[in-house]
Order: sequence, then C-alpha cells, then structure tokens
Amino acid sequence: MSALIRKAVFPAAGLGTRFLPATKSQPKEMLTLVDKPIIQYGVEEAVASGLTDVIIVTSRGKSVIEDHFDISADLEAHLAAKGKHALLEEVKKVSSLITVSSVRQGEPLGLGHAVLMARGLVGDEPFAVVLGDDIFDAKPPALKQMVDVFEKVQSPVIAVERVPQNDVSSYGILAVEPAPEVGPGVHRILDMVEKPPRDQAPSNLAIIGRYLLTPDIFPALEATKSDKSGEIQLTNGMKRLLQDRPFYALEVDGVRHDAGNKVGFLKATAYFALKRPDVSEAFTEYLKSLGFSRSL
Ligand code: G1P
Repeated sequence: MSALIRKAVFPAAGLGTRFLPATKSQPKEMLTLVDKPIIQYGVEEAVASGLTDVIIVTSRGKSVIEDHFDISADLEAHLAAKGKHALLEEVKKVSSLITVSSVRQGEPLGLGHAVLMARGLVGDEPFAVVLGDDIFDAKPPALKQMVDVFEKVQSPVIAVERVPQNDVSSYGILAVEPAPEVGPGVHRILDMVEKPPRDQAPSNLAIIGRYLLTPDIFPALEATKSDKSGEIQLTNGMKRLLQDRPFYALEVDGVRHDAGNKVGFLKATAYFALKRPDVSEAFTEYLKSLGFSRSL
C-alpha cells in the first residue's frame, strides 16, 4: 500500500431534497456560495492539501458536475476574444485543478455504499472522503491538517468537532481517548455510533465531513449490513474495521460551515462574501443598512 494520499472521493449522488425546488433539475453540489459551486470549495481544499485526483460518486442528472471541472473550449475562446482575461484564468483554473473521474451510485443506499462504489477507482491506496456540504475555512487546509496526522500514524484519520448536545443525533459520534503524543487535537477512537439518541451518545465529538481512510475499509463496508433505513452507513463500516486497526480523530483548527441546510447555506454565503475583497465592502454596507454590524 502506498502511503501517499492522492485521491479524494466526493459522494454527490443525493437528491438534495432540502433545497427543493432549486435542486429539481440542478445538483445540490452546484449551488453557489458567492460565485463558486459548493463542491469547488472542497475540490480546492483537496488541491491545496496536495491531492491530485477527484472521484465523484454521482447519479442520474448530475453530469453538470463533471462538465464544471472539464475544459470548456467554447467558453474559453469567447472570453479570450472579448479580452476578459481575469475571468478566462478563473475558468481555466477550474479545469486544470485536478484529474476528475466519476462513478455512478444507481440507488441511494447510503454514504458507506457510495464509498464502496468508488472502490475500483481508488484501488489499493489510502484516500480521502470529502462531504462537500461541510466547507472549511482553515489554514493549513482541513485535509492538509489531517494528512499531516495520517503521515505520522499510517491509520485512518477522521475530522471531528464538538457539537451542542442537542445536535448529536445528526452526526456520527465518537468515544475517544486523548493522543497528545501524535499532535494537538488528536484522539484515539475507542468507539463510534451513527446518529445516536441524545441520551445514548458517548460524547459530543461529532464526525464532520472529512475522512482519510485506508483501502481495508472496502471489505469492512462489504461486510456491513444496511441499517433500519436500508442504508449502509460509513460509520458502521468504520466501526467494524476499528476492531482490527487503530483509528484517529482530529479536531480541525478552523471554521466549518454546514452548507447542507438552508440556514447553514445562508451563513456560509455571508461568511465567504465578507471574506471576498471584490464584494465584502459593498456587502458590509448592505448588512449595516439592515442594522447588522460585524466584520470577520
Ligand atoms: C453523514 C455521516 C455522519 C456525519 C455527517 C457529517 O451524515 O453519516 O456520520 O457525522 O455526515 O456531515 P449526513 O449528514 O449525510 O446525514
């Protein structure tokens, strides 16, 4: 097994029902925060973390995601002819960022099943899983912080964050012991449970959308049964593998937004708009006119 993490799997087969009607004929992953599709934030993070290959797990009607990361010769020629050089560079950057391949998840059988679909494209090497809804503003990038831990432990590393006790049933939740010898914010995982009821959660340490996994997750997922809702959960596959090898959790140093629900999406939009030099001033003025005052 190569120790280098090159590939990032982006599960993107969901129906995006929380954003209907916007997602009736448009993938959720292509909704824009300021002027970039949600998924591009995750792809740029992967690139900035040294990864080179993106594997998108898609479904029917999602081919515009692949188009987005492909070269658009017509558009590039048009922008060049009009002398719009800055935009041209921006558009070219998207397609030159990374090698993209895709695989279909024909049925919505869960996150674990989506990861299993990528097995052929991942092969026998460690890889990242990026849930595009979770968007990080972190330096170094979230995945890079995780890669640094992976290089030390050569075992799976999961990004975690403490969440309010009321929210534990929306996440995979971990029981851990500290592992300060590995690095700050690192824990050794003792147990994991997917979306526990509040009174049964082993902690408030929640899995957030970044995982560095080793290829032995695939047989573990194959052996994992569907849950009550008929889905194969990634958390349950990892819990199975935890019997055979150590797993680590990292509290990522940075800000995370959950753009997978409406309020989180609006917060992320405001956050990234306020950080963008080209719009922040005008947007701040607007917020002030509404009676808000806050800068980042
Ligand atoms: C998934 C995982 C869950 C994790 C969460 C992070 O749940 O199953 O363990 O905590 O992502 O966003 P979902 O949000 O897809 O329901």
